[in-house]
Amino acid sequence: MIVAANLKANHTRSSVKSYLDAVSSFIGENDIKTRAVVFPPATALCPSRGNITVGAQNAWAAENGSFTGEIGSEQLDEFGIRTLLVGHSERRHIMGEGLDTTKRKFDFFAEQEYEIFFCVGEPIEIKEAGFDAVMTYIERQLDGVDLNYSRLILAYEPVWAIGTGKAATSGDILSVHSAIKGFCDKPLLYGGSVKIENAGEILSLEGVDGALVGTASWISDRFCALLNIADNIEKGLGQ
Ligand code: 13P
Repeated sequence: MIVAANLKANHTRSSVKSYLDAVSSFIGENDIKTRAVVFPPATALCPSRGNITVGAQNAWAAENGSFTGEIGSEQLDEFGIRTLLVGHSERRHIMGEGLDTTKRKFDFFAEQEYEIFFCVGEPIEIKEAGFDAVMTYIERQLDGVDLNYSRLILAYEPVWAIGTGKAATSGDILSVHSAIKGFCDKPLLYGGSVKIENAGEILSLEGVDGALVGTASWISDRFCALLNIADNIEKGLGQ
């Protein structure tokens, strides 16, 4: 199981340091086997620790160059970052990143053998159009992405569930995850309003290999609680 914290544009260099210190101690003291991944903002990137992978939320598909406001693999290399989020819905829908850009990023960083957390998920109007429309939309987001890439992790994050406090229902998650698993056997995380109250139910679902968490991960104690819930499920101790 993987539980990943997407800190988005929250935290600073110093608060990320304290955050990682707290999570790292928690994992060590509680013998947590669930894999912890943290995506801090770009200004707070730092090397991974033994028990926490640090990844980047975004990077441009280049080593370096004239890409104002972006960072490339050279800046990631400085911190030994080898894990990257690609296609997060906020990049797609707020920053206007299109299918070509996400695919170019996937291709570039896969070529460099980065671990890629590739996000997919439909906006509300597609959800309202029904399950077939949802799957067509997701398949289009994955079009051209090498689903056999060895370091690929998928995250299903319905746009309407992100930051709203309203996670997808278990039924929604089960049907989309099982459809994706039908054509891709990579680890598949769910994201969208995962929190302490619903994590046990979501992480116990068939076809859910972990969670990509925003809001509920921003306070280290809450992220630790989520890791603990996942770890108990993984160890067969219940929710
Ligand atoms: P929330 O957990 O705040 O809904 O955000 C989910 C997300 O975007 C993780 O990448």
